[in-house]
Amino acid sequence: MTAPLLDIHLTDDDLTIGLRTDALSGLTATPKTLPPKWFYDARGSELFEQITLLPEYYPTRTERALLARVADEIATAAHPEVLVELGSGSAVKTRLLLDALTAEGSLKTYVPQDVSASALRAAAAEIAEEYPQLGVHGVVSDFTDTLHNLPRGGRRMIAFLGGTIGNLVPTERAEFLAGINEVLEPGELLLLGAGLVIDPAVLVPAYDDAQGVTAEFNRNVLHVLNGRLGANFHPEQFEHVAHWDAENSWIEMRLRATAPMTVTVAELGLTVTFAEGEEMRTEISAKFTRDGLGAELAQAGFALTDTWTDPDERFALFLAQRR
Ligand code: SAH
Ligand code: AVI
Repeated sequence: MTAPLLDIHLTDDDLTIGLRTDALSGLTATPKTLPPKWFYDARGSELFEQITLLPEYYPTRTERALLARVADEIATAAHPEVLVELGSGSAVKTRLLLDALTAEGSLKTYVPQDVSASALRAAAAEIAEEYPQLGVHGVVSDFTDTLHNLPRGGRRMIAFLGGTIGNLVPTERAEFLAGINEVLEPGELLLLGAGLVIDPAVLVPAYDDAQGVTAEFNRNVLHVLNGRLGANFHPEQFEHVAHWDAENSWIEMRLRATAPMTVTVAELGLTVTFAEGEEMRTEISAKFTRDGLGAELAQAGFALTDTWTDPDERFALFLAQRR
């Protein structure tokens, strides 16, 4: 079997340069903060896969069930020739879409895109083998700044699943949706999966599971800083925090220092101190209302074709067309 085509728009050196920039600004800010894309080295991607299987983590299985129910409707409404998937990860749920789209008959090419080269390579190879009739063309890039590098040609649908849209802060989110709108041709489509605002008694445990897998995923960003920038964090000295911020409608993941610490980041020549109890934000995971995200899509230049939710209204899929 020949390996699928893979475009690398983000090399290992680019990642190191990007992390240097983000670590320098984030570790010297008050409060300290790091962007969530740095969770996803090979270990982080693997930990995320484990999260998707946890009893508390409802988003993946809810979206999967929703996709199983409506994939045929999506295929009929969209009938794309190219499916581009941003932040595709292991692309497990994508199979439901690929099955419906290949049965519908118009799909020719699948373009998975991710910042995690290891996850992308594995998913692209598996899908190329499972769907020999499809061209598979992977893209390693950052979806916040390289949308123009996506392959063109053929009527496209961009899928952005899993609720990853919620990991962007509101200004990034608006820019990102407008950016997708800009790269699409009129009539091309966006399929967006997003978590809805639900009872915090269900929401918070999804981000603070009993087995501590999410805590390990959260601390992985410190392992990434140690590995890539020669930092000397002791990850086990940081506690995982998952806080529901009702005002902003997001779960905020933080790492809390359990003792006063001084950390050096060798590659940056930087020394940072943490007070005992100091918290550093590592991720937001925003939850939406149907109307709220519908309005954001309209603001970005999309016409909403359809919206589907699960029976408990925990998760929604939006199909939107570039006007
Ligand atoms: N879509 C999958 C995976 C979600 S996890 C699902 O629904 O289960 C989020 C994925 O987005 C990870 O694979 C991660 O590597 C990727 N990711 C996070 N930030 C990214 C960025 N800035 N650019 C590209 N990919 C990113
Ligand atoms: C990838 N993203 C949608 C996940 C989420 O639910 O926000 C990442 C995650 N963080 C903690 N658990 C899972």
